Formats: sequence, structure tokens, C-alpha cells
Amino acid sequence: MASGSAVAPLFLLWLLLLHNVPLALPASPLARSFELDYEEDCFRKDGAPFRYISGSIHYARVPRPAWRDRLLKMYMSGLSAVQVYVPWNYHEPRPGVYDFVGNRDVEAFLDLTAELGLLVILRPGPYICAEWEMGGLPSWLLWKPDIVLRSSDPAYLAAVDSWLHVLLPKIKPRLYQHGGNIISVQVENEYGSYYACDYGYLRHLLGSFRALLGSEVLLFTTDGTQPEELHCGTLQGLYATIDFGPGSNVTEAFGAQRWVEPKGPLVNSEYYTGWLDYWGEAHASTSSVRVARGLENMLQMGASVNMYMFHGGTNFAYWSGADFKDQYKPVTTSYDYDAPLSEAGDPTEKLFAIRTVISKFQPLPAGPMPSPTPKYAYGRVALQKHADLLDALGVLCPSGPIQSQFPLTFEAIKQAHGFVVYRTQLPRDVPDPATLGAPPHSICDRGYVMLQKYCGTLERDGQTTLRVMGRAGDTLDVLLENMGRISFGANISDFKGLLGNLSLDSSPLSNWLIYPLDIDTAVQQGWPHAALPKPSRRGRAGPAFYTGTFETPGIAWDTFVKFPGWSKGQLWINGFNLGRYWPRRGPQQTLFVPGSVLHIGRPNNVTVLELEGAPSTPLFSCPPLGQGKRGPGLNSFCMLIPHLSQTIPGFMLTPPHTSGVKAPLYC
Ligand SMILES: *[C@@H]1O[C@H](CO)[C@@H](O)[C@H](O)[C@H]1NC(C)=O
Ligand SMILES: *[C@@H]1O[C@H](CO)[C@@H](O)[C@H](O)[C@H]1NC(C)=O
Ligand SMILES: *[C@@H]1O[C@H](CO)[C@@H](O)[C@H](O)[C@H]1NC(C)=O
Ligand SMILES: *[C@@H]1O[C@H](CO)[C@@H](O)[C@H](O)[C@H]1NC(C)=O
Repeated sequence: MASGSAVAPLFLLWLLLLHNVPLALPASPLARSFELDYEEDCFRKDGAPFRYISGSIHYARVPRPAWRDRLLKMYMSGLSAVQVYVPWNYHEPRPGVYDFVGNRDVEAFLDLTAELGLLVILRPGPYICAEWEMGGLPSWLLWKPDIVLRSSDPAYLAAVDSWLHVLLPKIKPRLYQHGGNIISVQVENEYGSYYACDYGYLRHLLGSFRALLGSEVLLFTTDGTQPEELHCGTLQGLYATIDFGPGSNVTEAFGAQRWVEPKGPLVNSEYYTGWLDYWGEAHASTSSVRVARGLENMLQMGASVNMYMFHGGTNFAYWSGADFKDQYKPVTTSYDYDAPLSEAGDPTEKLFAIRTVISKFQPLPAGPMPSPTPKYAYGRVALQKHADLLDALGVLCPSGPIQSQFPLTFEAIKQAHGFVVYRTQLPRDVPDPATLGAPPHSICDRGYVMLQKYCGTLERDGQTTLRVMGRAGDTLDVLLENMGRISFGANISDFKGLLGNLSLDSSPLSNWLIYPLDIDTAVQQGWPHAALPKPSRRGRAGPAFYTGTFETPGIAWDTFVKFPGWSKGQLWINGFNLGRYWPRRGPQQTLFVPGSVLHIGRPNNVTVLELEGAPSTPLFSCPPLGQGKRGPGLNSFCMLIPHLSQTIPGFMLTPPHTSGVKAPLYC
């Protein structure tokens, strides 16, 4: 060993000279190290004592054109590192099909972190939680319904290993020891909170990470501070770190880390700057003073700290996850998190409070904090009904329906996200109201019922029956909406669709036609703007598409969309899926629209899928700011911002409306 290491540098030098490599060498790779110091209870970077002050950012929740802006603001806050999750399901949409382009170009994101002088703490999963759809696991794992996720189940391990063999080779050259900026890599995530407690699984991951990343990289785990969490989440060979928020006693929390790591650096890998929001619950917030005080306490103890989140961003499209606590709790589209950088990327009072604390411990970079991104109120956009969803099945489901005697889950028909229509006929005349119903918790997650017309909505943990009347042969349609798979806890095998039989007065309905909808492909290809509107048969209630356009006055600045009087649905602008809106349930009242999705000099195409019902009359509760095109539409929504350079709340400060939609008693 000793003689080998003495010879190696000379040998390398000789090799370089031989190949005529210019001698302006970067620091020899052998000098770059990032290690644990169990004597001094710190990290060592290139041999010197080191601790990091870091913040979390998720590239999948930030539009790529804004990556640099957000990372620069994090750097200017005085952070030395960023902590980054890699969501497996964002990159492997189908088994063996990989996507690393555009917003999924994780290597381009990592390049930017390096360019801006930030170190990276990488958390590649395979499970990440993150309140992300299924905790980052691909829903196709559930194509094998009895798979045991996050365990030594061979089917699960095989999928994990295939993925790690694609991802980790991209990471290896970016490790600090290899000249990159990744100082450490987390294995799994809060595994001690999972019921399985399968050390064989953690040991398998340790082996795969070592095999693909080498022996030098610092691998670690993160868990809560409860004894059972630390018991099941930690493993010899993985440095154990913990997570806790400003509500915890810092001395006691780090005391918990000391049960499992008696020596070595104190690390809080997730110090909560705020919290997430659920549909139908109050907007979460955490005071800046408490966040700053807790941070200062930890830094005084010499701890390394990652703030979760530093910038939360947005759950665009269908990427929001859900929790399960007594009932299913879907996460809002906004992932603002009450974080130091707001959803729109603007510095908040909390950011400046944190920056002041950091400045007591390490120098801040010279120069001012970049200003908030400019916003613009484009005004009202008039929307016209284009078609009822049921009249567009030919476009939305070009391959046609699947026939099945009884309902099939989304997973059984290989539909990951979004919507599926289940269609059948009434088997008999129903002259008097009969009960249409499903077993409890089998509507996953919402079912919009149409029997000639819209009858109402069934919900997973809410109303599961409706009263209906009709004639034999009448078409019954149920549009099933997946609101995001559970991302935490024992119930992450969260199947979607109609999980049980739909019955009429207890007799199961059969002979279904099941239409998996691919709305996003159609909308990305310009539908329905390029198509002629279909005459509406069903009025303004029930699932339908609405379209409108607006032009910008020569700018493409960020904005927020408000939906006065609208119920629940999905919004696209120029084919970009901005996520779910649900002002009736709240607390979120507006959707963030990054300026990068807008066009200058040509119309911006707005597409709305409203699921329950558009407002009957135009409601102009937003002031007619801006120069947006206004037309005589049936319905309108408005794109508003109060003032430029002001921090924009993503939420109207109104009490949350939790009662939801009352389905009519009779249809
Ligand atoms: C934190 O816990 C320690 C040990 O239990 C205790 O001595 C200390 O008073 C606590 N601090 C606060 C602020 O409660
Ligand atoms: C969730 O998981 C727990 C523990 O495995 C189980 O008892 C419970 O039935 C599950 N609930 C649902 C809705 O799947
Ligand atoms: C639906 O009903 C049929 C006939 O009673 C039964 O065989 C089947 O198991 C039921 N499916 C589910 C998911 O309960
Ligand atoms: C908007 O819709 C028009 C048709 O009305 C179409 O020609 C155009 O390509 C669409 N633009 C985008 C960006 O989808």
C-alpha cells in the first residue's frame, strides 16, 4: 500500500508527460478528498475540517430556464451546498425507457451547481418520499400487484439495480474525489420510518452503490430521531444522519444521532423551513424567527445542516404525491413549502433571516441578492367551451377502449397518471332512484359520474354512493382521476382507478369499456385549439374542455392564474401542464405560471379541463389589470399579480373551504 501510493503520482506524471499533456494541472485528483473525521467530529474536505450549510432544491419542481436563477439565489444566501433528490419515476417512465432531456437533464442541472460554486449532497433514492408521486418509485412496479416495495423482493431489487446501473455511472465522474462537486450520496430515504425494516435490502443497496460509485464516496442515511426509526434506517457502512425541524430540541435531537453515531459530524439532513400543504387543509407556515433561531443553535454546535426546502417550487402536471393519515391526503400543486425562496423563486423575509444567521458563521458572497423575478398581470382570458370530455374520447384515447367484465386498475392497463373513463350500460330500467356505489376506499381517487348527464362525484374516503335513475341501455360513464400516489408510510402500493366493483343496488355492474386517456399528448400536439368545437350536449356541468388565447404585450414574465367560480381541474398553457387547480377545496387559490411557458408575438393557447362545472356567469373577482386580450366568452379566468417586485403569495388568505362539492342527491 505505502510503496504503491508513493509511486503512483510519479507514474501519473510520467504518463501525462508522455502524452504531451500541458503541465498546468488542476490539483492532483489524489488531493481531493471528502471524509468523516471521527476524532474531531467533523467532515474533512481535502484534509481540512469542514461543515456544510446546505439547502434543498428539486430540479423536477423548477422549470429548467429558472434553474440558474434559483441556484444563484441559493449561492448568494451563503449556502455552501445544495441537496438534490433524483426522482426515479421522472426518468424511467416505462421499464427500460429513460428520459434525461429538457427538465429531466439532471446532468445539466448538476453542471450548473458546479458552475455556481455549490457543492452537492445527492439523494438518488431509489425511494425519495419528497411528497412526490409514489415517493419517486415508478408506478409500473405495481404492474406486479404483489410486489413488496422497498424490500429484498427480487422483482423490486431487479428494477432498482437496472435503474442504478443507468443513473450512477452519470454520477460517478461528478463525485468530489473524481474532480466533481458531489461530496456525499444518500442511500434510500428515512428507511427507518418504513414498516419493512429489511436490512437485507439496505445491505443490497450499499453493495450496489459501492460497486457503481467506488469505495471512496461518503454514503449516508437520513432518519427521524425516534429510536425505532434509527434502528431500522441505519446500517454499518452508511453514516447515519437525522432530520428534524425548528420545533425540536436541538440538544435532544442530536443526542439521538449520538445513539447511532457516537463520534463523527452532527448532521441534520432535513431542517424544515416550512411544511407542505394538503388539499382541504389550512396553509402551513413556520415563523422565520423560529427557523433562524434553530439554525443558529445547530451551527453553534458545529453541526452540518441542510434546509428542507430552500426552494420548494411546483408539482407540475401529475407529480404531486399524497400522504395517508387516517385517510388519503393529496398534496397541493404548489410546493411553496413556506420556504426561504418562494414558489416563484423570490427571496422572502425568511431567506434574509437565514442569511443573517449564516453570516455569523461564514462569509457571505460579495454582491447583492438577485431581485425577485418580474411578474405581469395579463388580465382576463375569455374561455369558450370546446367539448365535453366524453365527446373527445376518439382524440384522447386513439387506441380505443379495453374490454373487461369487471373494472381494472390503472396499473392493470398500464396507465401511470391522470384519467381513465370506465363505461358500461345500465342492465335494466331504473324507474325509481337506486344506489350506485362502490366499496369504501375503492374509488381511487375521485370518480365523476355521468348518466346521460353529470350526476356527481364519488370520493376515495368520502361519498361513495349516488342515487340514480335511468333506462336499460343508458350509458353510464365514470371518469376516474388519480390525485397522486401516496409517498410516505406503509401504503405506498397505492393502486389507482376503480379498485372494486361499481354496483347498482348491490348488484355489480359488468361489461365495461375502459378508456385510458392520454390528454397530455393531444394537448401538446395543439388539440383542441386546432380542432372545431363540438356542440355541447351536456351544458356546463361535468368534465369538459375549455379553450382561450391571450397575447402578451412583448414580455413573457411569470404570472399567477386565478379561477373565480371554477371548481376543479387541470390547466395547460401552450401544451405545458401547470397542474391541478381546486379553489373550492383550497387552500391553494392560484396556479404559478412560469414566464418560460409563454410565447411573445403569437397567441398563447390556454386549455382547461374542468371536471365538475364551469361558473354559470363570468365572475370578475380579479381586477382587470394588464393588457390581456378580452373577448365575449362564456367563462373567464384571470391572470393576475398585485404589483411588480412584490413577493406574491401563492395563496389567497381566505379560510380553507373543506366541505368540497356536494353531489346532488338524485341524478
Ligand atoms: C433541550 O433539552 C435539554 C436536555 O433534555 C434540556 O436541558 C434543555 O433545557 C432543553 N432546551 C430547551 C430550549 O427546551
Ligand atoms: C395501510 O397499511 C397498513 C399497514 O400495513 C394497513 O393495516 C392498512 O390496511 C393499509 N391501509 C390501506 C388503506 O391500504
Ligand atoms: C366483482 O364482482 C364479481 C362478480 O361478483 C367478482 O367475481 C369480482 O371478484 C368482483 N371484483 C372485485 C374487485 O371485487
Ligand atoms: C395554438 O393553437 C393554434 C390553433 O388555433 C395552433 O395553430 C398553434 O400551433 C397553437 N400553438 C401552440 C403553442 O400550441
